[in-house]
Amino acid sequence: MKLSKRITLIVGGGNGLGRAVALACAQQGATVIVADLNLAAAKETLALAAPGKGHGLALALDIAQPAAVKAAVQAVVEQFGRLDILVNCAAICLVDPLHELTPERFDRVFSINARGAFFVMQAAAQAMMPNKFGRIITISTPASKLSVPLFATYGASKAAVDSLSKSAALAWAPHGITVNTIAPGRMTGGMVDALDRDLAKVTGQNLDELIASRTKTLPMGRRVEPSEVAQAVIWLASDEAAYVTGERFNFTGGQELQ
Ligand SMILES: NC(=O)c1ccc[n+]([C@@H]2O[C@H](COP(=O)([O-])OP(=O)(O)OC[C@H]3O[C@@H](n4cnc5c(N)ncnc54)[C@H](O)[C@@H]3O)[C@@H](O)[C@H]2O)c1
Repeated sequence: MKLSKRITLIVGGGNGLGRAVALACAQQGATVIVADLNLAAAKETLALAAPGKGHGLALALDIAQPAAVKAAVQAVVEQFGRLDILVNCAAICLVDPLHELTPERFDRVFSINARGAFFVMQAAAQAMMPNKFGRIITISTPASKLSVPLFATYGASKAAVDSLSKSAALAWAPHGITVNTIAPGRMTGGMVDALDRDLAKVTGQNLDELIASRTKTLPMGRRVEPSEVAQAVIWLASDEAAYVTGERFNFTGGQELQ
């Protein structure tokens, strides 16, 4: 077991990649704390990850609220004694033609994807520092390096995650904390389903045709399963990756080579 007894907080663990990460971490012996805006979904993930084991925790959390983030991390430390691993999967993606983008929708994306992601990292690092051990894994996207005119706030907010993660890696290396980022390719389920629907609406394209054409352009001709991406999280959180920090790993099936 690669994460035996590691106290692991998975933010955005109610669905998609976060849920797959929670399941994979539990399989590797971790105690999982699942935090999500949607408490019912977080509870469902916990029940799937640790069925009948009576440990772990599900928390309601909005990462756009830094005080709530701090309180959630404190609750974890109070109940479990420490925090070893943070995986932040929470994010949103809004579709907006750039000429119509409003300050409110800009701020909504940035308050979760960039500002929220940072304050989750910061609260976790503060909890990890006394133990001189921590693994922080943030989630980016190929879009952080591409031109994505219809969801530019998403790409830009994730570029902020790339940058903040690199700075945090250097700042917290002396404290025994590693910070790495995974950029998954287009995954099955999760936010891409909603994104495809919104793109079809804004462009007037037929949804099935849009999905087929967006999948055909992927080098491997398929979307990636969240459970595949979760294995990269396991490795980065494990002792095997103790000397790896400040990296951004593509898990994209070669998408960025095109
Ligand atoms: N789906 C993809 O193809 C894809 C590709 C590249 C990167 N990503 C990234 O992977 C991560 C997971 O994506 P997914 O498809 O599993 O998403 P998802 O929408 O299925 O899950 C995201 C989870 O985050 C939660 N969440 C949203 N806002 C929150 C907030 N303010 N506070 C706390 N929780 C909140 C949601 O309730 C949901 O359970 C995201 O960071 C996303 O940007 C996804």
